[in-house]
Amino acid sequence: MPLPQLLLLLPLLLTSGAEEGLPSVQIDLKDPVVKLGTSLNINCSSLCPYANESLGLETSLQKQRLNKQELPGNYWMVFYVTPERSGSVHCWANCNGTQTSSTRNITVYAPPEHVELMPPPAWVPVGKNYTLDCQVLGVMPLENLTVTLFQGTQELGHQDFLGKPPDTQIATATFTFTARREDHGANVSCQAELDLRRLGLNPFYRHSASVQLRTFQFKSLHWFNSTVLNDSWLLEAGTAKSVSCEAEVFPAGEAQFHLSLGGQKLNLTVTGNGDRLKAEATVWAEEGPERELDLNCTVAVGDESRTVHKNLIIYNFPPPELILSEQNPVEKTPVNVSCRAQPGASVKLEGHPEKLPGEPVQLIAREEDDGRILSCEATLSLGSEQLVKHQNVQLHVLYGPRMNASDCPGNWTWLEGTEQVLHCRARGNPPPTVQCVHAGIKDTFLPETPLRVTRAHTGTYRCTASSQLGTVARDVIVKVDFHELNVTLITVLVLMFAAVTAGLGVAGYLYYRQQRIRRYELKKAQEQAALRSSTLQGLRP
Ligand SMILES: *[C@@H]1O[C@H](CO)[C@@H](O)[C@H](O)[C@H]1NC(C)=O
Ligand SMILES: *[C@@H]1O[C@H](CO)[C@@H](O)[C@H](O)[C@H]1NC(C)=O
Ligand SMILES: *[C@@H]1O[C@H](CO)[C@@H](O)[C@H](O)[C@H]1NC(C)=O
Ligand SMILES: *[C@@H]1O[C@H](CO)[C@@H](O)[C@H](O)[C@H]1NC(C)=O
Repeated sequence: MPLPQLLLLLPLLLTSGAEEGLPSVQIDLKDPVVKLGTSLNINCSSLCPYANESLGLETSLQKQRLNKQELPGNYWMVFYVTPERSGSVHCWANCNGTQTSSTRNITVYAPPEHVELMPPPAWVPVGKNYTLDCQVLGVMPLENLTVTLFQGTQELGHQDFLGKPPDTQIATATFTFTARREDHGANVSCQAELDLRRLGLNPFYRHSASVQLRTFQFKSLHWFNSTVLNDSWLLEAGTAKSVSCEAEVFPAGEAQFHLSLGGQKLNLTVTGNGDRLKAEATVWAEEGPERELDLNCTVAVGDESRTVHKNLIIYNFPPPELILSEQNPVEKTPVNVSCRAQPGASVKLEGHPEKLPGEPVQLIAREEDDGRILSCEATLSLGSEQLVKHQNVQLHVLYGPRMNASDCPGNWTWLEGTEQVLHCRARGNPPPTVQCVHAGIKDTFLPETPLRVTRAHTGTYRCTASSQLGTVARDVIVKVDFHELNVTLITVLVLMFAAVTAGLGVAGYLYYRQQRIRRYELKKAQEQAALRSSTLQGLRP
């Protein structure tokens, strides 16, 4: 309001209705409550009976005079007012030098026209503060506005706008929260409420569209290695190796893994357990020169992406060469054994002190070395790693036939009629053949084959073992026992028979002798009797 008008109004206000008897100025409307955009016609009238009555409307609101009548006793003036905010209007009149005025308060309201919830940046790290701004447009008066934030039906907070300038039509409520895991996926919305119940109006409500919160947590990312964790990993050219990296993230289901070797994407499999995710891939090193490649594991969750690198050293390390000067040495002859590996590697022949590379070790081949495994070990140092490779060669020593008492026992006693085996073996490389020849009957026996024993097997055998490398021989004596038990029995029986026969003979003789004696004695008695009788006869002739 310009200053001169104010100065003009000031005495009017002060003297309002001061003079008795004169009619005061009137406004044709009660304190109005209007919706923003509604226009009002305001009729200021006065019944002042004098001419030259002056009349007007004072307001800070926009006004326009529509019509007027200046008849003493019936003055009026109609104004068209479009209030853009709440305010007051004052009708004034100057009747015969006496000023009067009348005031009305106009309350303008605007139900919330648009409510918008401004989401936080797409992803909020757990533990970080984030804000949700709820903006309400086309609303007034702000002192009656409440903005409430909801998650579903649960209220998260609300805000009032008391003390804000009355003509403001935009309100922004800012809510600050600390991001939690459980907030992930929550739908939030805000509601604007314009409560005009004190003006006799029902409250007005408007809701925003809902917004989904997304929180995330990035705890760790590292290479997963069950053995040792080195700065570099080694991979032999032409071989494959499984590598894996492990991340602890939330929400695990939305984490994106990316593994690459030397810039080439690797196929991977991801396994998970809670927040722990493990990505595994097989890295394959093409044959080729020694080189270094960058192995890269990247995990992205939410707005964050982390990468871990590993230096992969591709190396070549063929096994050492183990060379014998003679593949099949004859016993007691020297063999040179040399072990060679690529430059930079050291070699060692098992069981021998370390020698200069390329210098052979001389062995004298012995019978007991036949079949022995010679082992050469090559060691290559790569950084802190010691790589070891072996090469084995079996030694074949040629030696002549060998036969001792346990290989070919010299004495056998067999029982006639039984089945027996003449055991006679010989050692040697190449394996010798063994033959046994009966000295008497010149029959040839193959040892180790079963035979039925007859008395003819008795005798001495010459067993001969022979190979290209010589011949050795041993004598074997075979004794055959036959049925001695029966001979004894027969002898016993014969003897018994002889004894019985002899016994009977003796008994017969004794009996005969006895009979003869008796007969002699009888004869003698008869002779004596005859003699006696003859004598008697002689005497008695
Ligand atoms: C203004 O009010 C006066 C007094 O009540 C009335 O006589 C007059 O007709 C009104 N004017 C209009 C345009 O309504
Ligand atoms: C996060 O907000 C809480 C209140 O919600 C406050 O106490 C804390 O200081 C804020 N932290 C930061 C880092 O702004
Ligand atoms: C074995 O090596 C020695 C030198 O160490 C050499 O004189 C000899 O000729 C070699 N023998 C064979 C069979 O290579
Ligand atoms: C055969 O055995 C007897 C005694 O059992 C022994 O005295 C003899 O030396 C042996 N003969 C051979 C050729 O082994």
